[in-house]
Amino acid sequence: MHDTVTDEVLLLVFDEVMLRYKLPLTGIHGAGHWGRVLENGLKLAEQTGANIGIVKLFALLHDSRRMNEDRDPEHGGRGAELARSLQGRIYTLSRTDLDLLGEACAHHTAGKLAADITVQTCWDADRLDLRRVGHIPDPRRLCTAAAKDPVMIEWASRRSLAGHVTEFARMLLSRRNT
Ligand SMILES: [Fe+2]
Repeated sequence: MHDTVTDEVLLLVFDEVMLRYKLPLTGIHGAGHWGRVLENGLKLAEQTGANIGIVKLFALLHDSRRMNEDRDPEHGGRGAELARSLQGRIYTLSRTDLDLLGEACAHHTAGKLAADITVQTCWDADRLDLRRVGHIPDPRRLCTAAAKDPVMIEWASRRSLAGHVTEFARMLLSRRNT
């Protein structure tokens, strides 16, 4: 059991995810996306002050229970359920943080804007990676001023379009292959 969200904890979470993951890890909702969402979130958190541990866990868990790459409106709820099931076994979050993580996962595709700043940062981190599926992030659908910044949208979109593989994604992919 761990108190903080270290890389070691993230890898244990990843192992739990992979016990259930139904889609190709290299697919549009797979490790490449999770890695960019994580880095988007960390960059936003420098300005928003979001809880970084929650941002990291969200990146790994929010799409982890998708059953297809298209329309799967229940996947956020299933991701939240998985997040809650790991409490006390893989990580120990405060009640508040666990609720934030659950909310971020459960409602990330509903287009909501109003939430705690950590939840907003998670949602924006995900929405900033839309270019990979042909959409340019719309500032009206982003929550935080940090994410609405045209420089941020451009930076994230360029990486999204190029399928940029982050260090974190590389770590996940290599763990899968060992
Ligand atoms: Fe996502």
